[in-house]
Amino acid sequence: MSWRRYHRFKDIESYIDYLAHTYKEICETVIIGTSTEGRTLKVLKVSSGGQNKPAIWIDGGLHGREWISPATVTYILLQLVEFRDKHPHLLENLDWYILPVSNPDGYEYSHVHDRLWRKTRSIPVGSKKRRPNPALGYWSDAIPYSVRSQCVGVDPNRNWDFQWMKVGGSSNPCDDNFAGHKPFSEPETRAMADFIMQHKDQIHLFLSLHSYSQMWLIPWGWTDTVKPDDYYDMYVLAEKGVNALKAVRGTDYLLGTSAELIYASSGASDDWAKGVAQIKYAYTIELPDTGNHGFILPASQIESTGQETWEGVRALAQHFAEGYN
Ligand code: ARG
Ligand code: ZN
Repeated sequence: MSWRRYHRFKDIESYIDYLAHTYKEICETVIIGTSTEGRTLKVLKVSSGGQNKPAIWIDGGLHGREWISPATVTYILLQLVEFRDKHPHLLENLDWYILPVSNPDGYEYSHVHDRLWRKTRSIPVGSKKRRPNPALGYWSDAIPYSVRSQCVGVDPNRNWDFQWMKVGGSSNPCDDNFAGHKPFSEPETRAMADFIMQHKDQIHLFLSLHSYSQMWLIPWGWTDTVKPDDYYDMYVLAEKGVNALKAVRGTDYLLGTSAELIYASSGASDDWAKGVAQIKYAYTIELPDTGNHGFILPASQIESTGQETWEGVRALAQHFAEGYN
């Protein structure tokens, strides 16, 4: 692994296996499921043992094209595991569940075929039953050739079973924000949700890393008319993260709800983590930049993004390691 270029899925997977193999006392891999195309969804559990410790969930790569996200998550693993002596209390007092690439099919598709691919790679339901339509050309695998590319896949951040399809999702499989034919239609979101539900009482902090726009997003993302009762608690903790992050090299993050800062959208993982799994602190972090390069962030920015994001995450982890909840 390096933080000088973006890596393919198999390299990231190998890094997870390497960590599990090299740091056996603190690392364990948990296969939580399989993607549509058969790739393994592998969580690295980082723990020094002990009972009833608060846990932190971090996922990356839910959207294929957001390459800085898995790269940043592996950077977090580097710090947490390989440089653990710098911050022993973060392992002594906490457990970590980390999934660097939660949509590996979309991630690989964005490397091989379409750099701006966002969705998963599931085949639309019902498409196998549709008859050939000469006007559209030939069907291949029962999907018309002419619509084949963009009509595959579901937006995995519109697919979670909370306020599903209320706002910002599409019912058209050919759209980039297609929410799926039902909530949790995707094996990837299903696997994450099942795992999180199994550990919901332990998980105190849920972080999902996306890009781009430099925002630390607080639920609710699905509405701008109501806020969770404890919105202020979430805001104050996120502020610690944003301040610690900024202290590294001055990067500014906006802090607020998705509905206030970008757009309202429902069926996203953060709202589900808060609303269903009842994890009090659930955030989506939109990594750099603000649009200059957008999704195509140069690899030369991986390391600095990793460093500052790690400081932000560390500030929050510190809060839970000190025994607050
Ligand atoms: N860029 C993310 C997306 O569109 C933002 C999600 C924020 N959370 C939310 N509940 N809308 O998927
Ligand atoms: Zn995203």
